[in-house]
Amino acid sequence: MTHDAPDLAPVSLNEWLKGRHALTGVAPEWDLGVLPHDPIVLFATWLRAAADAGVAEPHTVTLATVDAEGIPDARTLILKRIDEQGWAFASTRSSRKGAQLDAAPAAALNFWWQPQVRAVRVRGRVEEATAEERASDLAARSESARAGVAEGDWVLWRIVPARIEFWQGARDRRHTRVVYEPDAEGGWSHTVTVD
Ligand SMILES: Cc1cc2nc3c(=O)[nH]c(=O)nc-3n(C[C@H](O)[C@H](O)[C@H](O)COP(=O)(O)O)c2cc1C
Repeated sequence: MTHDAPDLAPVSLNEWLKGRHALTGVAPEWDLGVLPHDPIVLFATWLRAAADAGVAEPHTVTLATVDAEGIPDARTLILKRIDEQGWAFASTRSSRKGAQLDAAPAAALNFWWQPQVRAVRVRGRVEEATAEERASDLAARSESARAGVAEGDWVLWRIVPARIEFWQGARDRRHTRVVYEPDAEGGWSHTVTVD
């Protein structure tokens, strides 16, 4: 049996990239007059809407960190939980991200849900959850996922958001951006930009 060799010449790769379309999803109606005060409420609505629109794993997210030299890194992982304490994810302390978070305890998350042309961006300092929380997170993993992870190596981290951005693209390129930031009273303020 013969196979056609893939054409990997850079010029055709770049031609291929040039021919791709982006923002091809269908942005839902978004009533900017009734935005919730709490960004977690909006996130929960968008997350469920993404699942309903067929995003198979809408809770997977890109996590960005920086190393001790300030060089960024990023990888995909699973959002474990969100509450007023922060946005939680889990991994091993012995991983690259573990070392990076030790050196620079701050991170960013980026979700992208193509069918609805929606993205959510979160950034802030990072805190470690308690030993009880990380033990309970590890215990909730399947046996195969637990295998090979020393309990002391498993960490649940939380991003305490300093900024959460909800972005929805539009066909006419007048994209909408709603940015939440903590206010002085322990609540949230938000701004809306369409540009
Ligand atoms: C869909 C998906 C989900 C993942 N979930 C996790 C996760 O929750 N925790 C984790 O440590 N790695 C997860 N990984 C693997 C990471 O992307 C990464 O390869 C690994 O954590 C090592 O990253 P590091 O070298 O930056 O520490 C996931 C990968 C994919 C593709």
